Amino acid sequence: MKLSIKKDSGFIEFYSSSKTLLEALDDIKTTKDNSLCYSSGCRSGVCGSCAVRVNGVEVLACSYELKDGDVVEPLKNTQTIRDLVVVAPLEFNAKAKAYLCEKEQKPIITKEQTLINELQSECILCASCFSICPVYELNPNFLGPFALTRVWRYVSDVREDEAKSKIDLIQQDGIWDCTLCNACTTVCPQGISSKADIEKLRAKSAMFGYSDPSFSSFGFGSSFDGSPVF
Ligand code: SF4
Ligand code: SF4
Ligand code: FES
Repeated sequence: MKLSIKKDSGFIEFYSSSKTLLEALDDIKTTKDNSLCYSSGCRSGVCGSCAVRVNGVEVLACSYELKDGDVVEPLKNTQTIRDLVVVAPLEFNAKAKAYLCEKEQKPIITKEQTLINELQSECILCASCFSICPVYELNPNFLGPFALTRVWRYVSDVREDEAKSKIDLIQQDGIWDCTLCNACTTVCPQGISSKADIEKLRAKSAMFGYSDPSFSSFGFGSSFDGSPVF
């Protein structure tokens, strides 16, 4: 099968009879072009390191079944190191405080409580959602789908001690910048919907007195500036 791969020097055509894209990349590197660079780790859809775009859609190379004429490119909205190797923008997790700030008094967690954010805990940080998100064309500082999903994962956790400050942090360059287009959901290999998590964070923000700042620019509010309204 013919495939076209974006290298730093431009698109190069290769042929491979491999089943998956990752097997084809290995085949090309060992037998045709040892300068080809790409990332991989677990080879089984677990580590998230092999995400690329095929025909404009984000996939995991180790899970993707090769088709004749496929066009392979690196993820978008990231810094390309070489060929298909990019830097995942993990700094957005730190910026959004997307980690657990645990209460001193540790509550007992019920089975029902673990189910609330079980799916979000499955994120493998492949950055596919980040790559497809259209907001980055307008706002490179957008916290983005996977960071916001992780914020939801922690603010919905009964052990979290700083839910309010985490909600405060995502008001700017965060939940209100999302267009709710759902593109992130369609490419997530783990079945996570960052769009749905962002909607839940919007509802949680409303409980803390926040509302959509764009309403004020349409004349629905008077002088709202994104601060709590109580
Ligand atoms: S739903 Fe929001 S976060 Fe997801 S791709 Fe669309 S704009 Fe980006
Ligand atoms: S939410 Fe899904 S698409 Fe986004 S980084 Fe996590 S696993 Fe990848
Ligand atoms: S190599 Fe780990 S997800 Fe593909």
